Amino acid sequence: MFTIILGDITKEKVDVIVNAANTSLLGGGGVDGAIHRAAGPELLAECRTLHGCKTGQAKITKGYRLPAKYVIHTPGPIWRGGIMDEEQLLQSCYENCLKLAAENGCRSVAFPSISTGVYRFPLEKASEIAVRTILEFLETHPDMEVRMVCFDGETFGYYECALKEQTRQGIDTANDS
Ligand code: AR6
Repeated sequence: MFTIILGDITKEKVDVIVNAANTSLLGGGGVDGAIHRAAGPELLAECRTLHGCKTGQAKITKGYRLPAKYVIHTPGPIWRGGIMDEEQLLQSCYENCLKLAAENGCRSVAFPSISTGVYRFPLEKASEIAVRTILEFLETHPDMEVRMVCFDGETFGYYECALKEQTRQGIDTANDS
């Protein structure tokens, strides 16, 4: 199941929430700062033991004071105009987070809109990549629940459009065959 909601990811009661981190994994602003504040200092202590993470990859920690059991940290790409493999790297973020969630027995996963804040990835492209990658993963993991948690109305609108567009394409393809 895939749902898009408006809200604060730190409040989500799911098995795992995803953090749009940076490669140091030592915290920052935006959703990263909110997750560290809500989880408490033990999260940073565990992150220090991970020695960073490459862009597009993912690492898991416990959730500490969060309602979520785990946090998966993934550094998204910084948008540099699309010439630095940003689209492939963003897809890898979603793929690697979902794979790591499944490997750790998680059935419910909440994502923020990776890279579309400080990292300036255009929302239209980012939402298309996120929705496509999540829907593809759910085809082979139908028992998993994935939520996209949007923090503002504009972001929510783009993800809703991307989902409508891609489900419509799915229906059109099914009708063609
Ligand atoms: N719940 C859900 N989404 C949120 C929340 C929240 N509590 N807070 C912000 N967002 P950003 P990035 C949204 O900038 O672009 C950090 O400093 C936000 O409105 O958090 O991947 C890291 O340490 C936006 O839609 O992440 C990195 O250095 C989305 O989350 C850098 O920022 C992502 O915005 C990563 O930049």
